[in-house]
Amino acid sequence: MNVDQTVTTFLDFYRERGHLLVDEHSLVPPPGDPVLFTTSGMHPLTPYLSGRPHPRGPRLVNRQRCLRTTDLDEVGDDTHLTVFQMLGSWSLGSYSGVQSLVWGYELMRDGFRIGSDRLHVTVHEQDVESLRTWERIGVPVELTEDENWWSNGPTGPCGPDSEIFVWTPDTPPEGTPTTDPRWTEVWNHVMMRYLRHEDGRLEPVEPERIDTGMGLERMLTVLQGTRSVFDTDVFRPWSLTGLWPLDEPSQRVVTDHLRSSVVVIGDGVRPSPNGRGYVLRRLIRRVLTRLWRVDPDRTLGDLPTTPLMSTIDQFGQRTDVERVRDVLLNEEDRFRELVKRGRPVVSRRRSRGPLTDDDLRYLHDTYGLPRELVVDLLEERV
Ligand code: SER
Repeated sequence: MNVDQTVTTFLDFYRERGHLLVDEHSLVPPPGDPVLFTTSGMHPLTPYLSGRPHPRGPRLVNRQRCLRTTDLDEVGDDTHLTVFQMLGSWSLGSYSGVQSLVWGYELMRDGFRIGSDRLHVTVHEQDVESLRTWERIGVPVELTEDENWWSNGPTGPCGPDSEIFVWTPDTPPEGTPTTDPRWTEVWNHVMMRYLRHEDGRLEPVEPERIDTGMGLERMLTVLQGTRSVFDTDVFRPWSLTGLWPLDEPSQRVVTDHLRSSVVVIGDGVRPSPNGRGYVLRRLIRRVLTRLWRVDPDRTLGDLPTTPLMSTIDQFGQRTDVERVRDVLLNEEDRFRELVKRGRPVVSRRRSRGPLTDDDLRYLHDTYGLPRELVVDLLEERV
């Protein structure tokens, strides 16, 4: 299944069961929202999952782009991405968690052709209802304590969740999701049975609300039988090996960070010293650091149009390739200048002995050299 067929299979399944499509939001939440970026499919729906009626009714479905900086250091493995897409379904009190799990299994089996012989789930040890449901369906269950509880922050809707894993190798399944990393997590069903208040109190909510989220790129690795998310059709336009030969981990980081930067720029963010702009700045600078380590003459100006264009199209963004390229190149110029200015300053300072925290603060305040850059220069990464 290619990416479009996968999305359609998911959305149609829920539409046929009375769910209405809700618009995809930008990565940038509306003013007043405390988070920097939309981190999950449910995030824009938080007020509705907390009790407010949704104008489109109590059964909803969509595809939502998300960004998680918590995973930044894990990018480069087979499954983590900075910007990823989530397919989500929601019940605002319209049906139970049992129904959500039964539909979840039916969609895996009939829509995606993945039967119980390749599935394993994890369930919160106190969520007897979900445990019994999976036992009735016939999918093996692993009970956990802390790992099967989901919340989108310190307050708001939360509850036990049930995570669905697929066995990806050709050999018969072994172990469990927490003991064998070859189980790939693809879908999370959260039974939002509580509202967490500022004082930490958990208020039970009835009827429970349901929030499910499937990692689209991860699901594609399963459906397309690829080793990693980077080998799925989503990343086909991003094959940059001919342009910049790199080792595989760097290739993956460069691809992920560039694609993520394009999406973030497409949603209106510009590099800056703090907040969202700083996340974008870090992404671009991490790319340049990897590229320049091998050859300092490499430039983002050599990026072909295809990956930029296909990413803008895929996310349906109102921007164009030239605007995105301009932002990338401006940031590259700025960073090149900073590295040029920083190199002699850091090496002069280093000749006097190891750098202290005070030195790092001085280099930042006096020369505008960020701590991360100084560390990279010291370790000769750029
Ligand atoms: N909110 C849950 C998650 O992000 C399920 O959608 O995993």
